[in-house]
Amino acid sequence: MESYNDYNKKDHCSLSNVDVFVCQHIHVDWEIDFKKTIFRGSARHSIKVIKEGCNVLEMDSSDIQIKSVQVNNKKADFSIGDTIPGLGQKVSVTLPEDLCVFDNIFDVYFEYSTGETASAIQWLDREATKGGKYPYVFTQCQAIHARSLLPCQDSPGIKTTYTAKVSAPEWCTVLMSAISEKVESVNSTTKVHHWRQNVPVPTYLIALAAGNLVSSDISPRVRIWSEPEVISAAASEFSETEDFLCVAESLTCPYEWGRYDVLCLPPSFPYGGMENPCLTFATPTLLAGDKSLADVIAHEIAHSWTGNLVTSHTWEHFWLNEGWTVWLERKITSKIKKNHDILKLAAYGGYKHLVDDIKNMGEDNIFTQLVWPLTGQDPDEAFSSVPYEKGFNTLHYLEGKVGTPLFEAFAKAYLQKFKCGTVTSGEFKDCFIDYIQEKGTPAAINAIKAIDWTALYHTRGIPKDPHDFSNKLMDQVKDLADRWIHNFKSNDTSSTFSSKDLAEWSSLQKIIFLDILSEYSENKSNRLFSSSFLEAMDACYSFTAYNNAEIKFRWHILCLRCGVDRIIPDVVSFVTSQGRMKFVRPLYRALNASVAGKAHAKSTFEKFKNMYHPIAKKMIEQDFEKASKESTTSPSSVIQGTDAKFFAVLTGAVALGAIIWYAVFRPKK
Ligand code: BES
Ligand code: ZN
Repeated sequence: MESYNDYNKKDHCSLSNVDVFVCQHIHVDWEIDFKKTIFRGSARHSIKVIKEGCNVLEMDSSDIQIKSVQVNNKKADFSIGDTIPGLGQKVSVTLPEDLCVFDNIFDVYFEYSTGETASAIQWLDREATKGGKYPYVFTQCQAIHARSLLPCQDSPGIKTTYTAKVSAPEWCTVLMSAISEKVESVNSTTKVHHWRQNVPVPTYLIALAAGNLVSSDISPRVRIWSEPEVISAAASEFSETEDFLCVAESLTCPYEWGRYDVLCLPPSFPYGGMENPCLTFATPTLLAGDKSLADVIAHEIAHSWTGNLVTSHTWEHFWLNEGWTVWLERKITSKIKKNHDILKLAAYGGYKHLVDDIKNMGEDNIFTQLVWPLTGQDPDEAFSSVPYEKGFNTLHYLEGKVGTPLFEAFAKAYLQKFKCGTVTSGEFKDCFIDYIQEKGTPAAINAIKAIDWTALYHTRGIPKDPHDFSNKLMDQVKDLADRWIHNFKSNDTSSTFSSKDLAEWSSLQKIIFLDILSEYSENKSNRLFSSSFLEAMDACYSFTAYNNAEIKFRWHILCLRCGVDRIIPDVVSFVTSQGRMKFVRPLYRALNASVAGKAHAKSTFEKFKNMYHPIAKKMIEQDFEKASKESTTSPSSVIQGTDAKFFAVLTGAVALGAIIWYAVFRPKK
């Protein structure tokens, strides 16, 4: 086991020799070719030598077509290595020896185009957009997809400023994770867009979107962007953005990035949100109509500090990005609503999600550790709620040890210390201990002595002593869920229910209500809810009619698991109308695991797979493969929903047969 005091900074997910050379600035010059679906142009890197004795610069790439390379404007030899699964191909550039001296800075220029299967890029035909008139393109580089957009040192430990010059058709609006400098008309068909990002960022934060876009201003620094057809919905859904920003600043330090714009993407965007600097990308599944899913925006705003300003040095320390961000997000939303119970409720929901994920991953899975031991896998494979919720729980635990005022002051000091840089779990630990020892009361100093950091960082599985997040809002939810469950278990119909039960509830309460029912139904020792039970609940609360994507998702999962087969067309319509992985992956898995749904799962995916983002498509394909392997090794793993009923009948029939057999053929004395 590695010790996290040794500042092991090696990035196992990058093929670049970042211990020898580090990039300081990138300039890209791209032409967006919607017909060929490629970016064509160049990337120029300003490289500094940090260790002597090596004259080969190694960089990351993935399916990139490199035409030529120049070093300080002179043609250079280069080679592209074999494909390493998950990581792409190493590009090696031979450098003149005289350049490779300590502290020297030189310039490497790649003339290239992206491959048609670049994992970072999704191209949408005009038919796939809302307006139907123009094509659309957007990128998603986190975690290690930037290497399919440009040859680069694709490691979060390397942060650079960047500039971009992008040519696009004249009708097209181009947006980037940077500040717009100018837009020039070159001729009647083409415009050139210039961008600059002056705060150093890792390559995973380079982002671009281009299409027929319009905007609506929320405040002098906040602008919402989307296709014209959704702009009014998006602007009203995200109207609290400036307020969130102000609260976030009060918890951290002034916002460094100039603008905070939000782009509401087409439905195939694979995440809820992505914290691209100056321009958060958001899924349209947040458009619930009542701002109830705006916590995702609070989350992406929080990343402006935790993740973007202070970045986890490698993907092994990803929890420092997401855990801190969830911590800050929950502080923001509860401060906005002036109700600390909101934090507790969200934390409770998050904990349920964590337990669910860990059960699915297996308690001994190495990626259930807070610090991931990555050894050359694509970090997408390790992704789950663990870095988010174990991360949050760890910070909440430390906050509990020293008290909220001191911990909030520490958060500010931590950001100040690592601002514009990167951080490892070991550095975080040292920073925390040093700060508390310097500023804490004797009681706080004493309290942190007992912390077992190795256990915090490396223990797998479900946390042993969950925090108590109970509160009034939670009690209402638990009480109603208990009454339904009691009614189901005992057939006692004395409890009466009505639509008024949920009338005063927030969406989050409804979400957690469904989570509790799901948890019950997942517990193998419980009898599965019958479809008539769920139909009775639907008659009361009309869950099927909800448009809130989080509620719809949970209701669909519950119905699939419990054999409410009439939900299948709704599920198919939900998974084919948006491509957010959080929803589509579990829904395809649940559809595939139910007898009545199985026939629809693979065929629906085959029909619609090209609608999904390349990352989502790959992950869903892997999920199908995994399920088919599991079903061949253990057939019982697919017995769910209707299957379970079928097996119950079958078992009953066999038992009855045995009794009859015994009655008729029992050995006569
Ligand atoms: N940075 C993440 C999205 C991400 C993580 C993309 C890892 C690629 C690899 C983003 O900030 C995020 O966490 N989004 C969440 C929303 C959030 C409220 C938990 C999501 O997409 O659901
Ligand atoms: Zn995040």
